[in-house]
Amino acid sequence: MAADGAAEAAPAAAPCERGATVWLTGLPSAGKTTLAFALAERLRAEGHKVEVLDGDEIREFLSKGLGFTREDRHTNVTRIGFVAEKLAANGVKVLAPVIAPYADSRAAVRTRHAANGTAFLEIHVATPVELCAERDVKGLYAKQAAGEISGLTGVDDPYEAPADPELRLQTQGRAVAESAAELHAFLTERGLA
Ligand SMILES: Nc1ncnc2c1ncn2[C@@H]1O[C@H](COP(=O)(O)OP(=O)(O)OP(=O)(O)O)[C@@H](O)[C@H]1O
Ligand SMILES: [Mg+2]
Repeated sequence: MAADGAAEAAPAAAPCERGATVWLTGLPSAGKTTLAFALAERLRAEGHKVEVLDGDEIREFLSKGLGFTREDRHTNVTRIGFVAEKLAANGVKVLAPVIAPYADSRAAVRTRHAANGTAFLEIHVATPVELCAERDVKGLYAKQAAGEISGLTGVDDPYEAPADPELRLQTQGRAVAESAAELHAFLTERGLA
């Protein structure tokens, strides 16, 4: 108790102790995974607890068996959001490089975080589809063009770009380190790094 009888305000948690979910949404080959791991490395070196929930890895375990229908994509995103919130509520910086093509799925994750008072940042890795198709890290754009696959997000399956993300990151004409630094600076601005 303070001398005047009023309760003293609890000190604000240090950036290293504050959890948050940082969701990187964007097209295939936009740079989500690359940026998440670059940011994770830097945050860990600074003493943060960090977990990366990568879309591909999650689909091998937590979401094994789910496909790519609208419904399954929604289930995948809300599952990841559920785990992310639990970790973030316990002081972890959770980086989720996951396409999450539908606005309502992302909104559901945001709502769950808000209901629990957990920080949630939606980062749009806004690489244009033409550049993503050029990068084509997994060869999916080429396969779609050759008619070998269908349902590729942003090409012949929907991608609802965030209307009002916390941050829109450009990667076109930027080195990975530059984009990662921009993301880190944004977390610092928000008192999270
Ligand atoms: N500024 C940049 N930021 C991020 N990635 C970049 C940048 N410039 C070039 N790249 C390259 O773009 C590619 C992005 O691939 P990455 O696997 O990160 O995409 P992704 O968004 O995770 O795709 P997917 O949804 O298929 O998993 C990498 O080869 C990376 O080196
Ligand atoms: Mg990826």
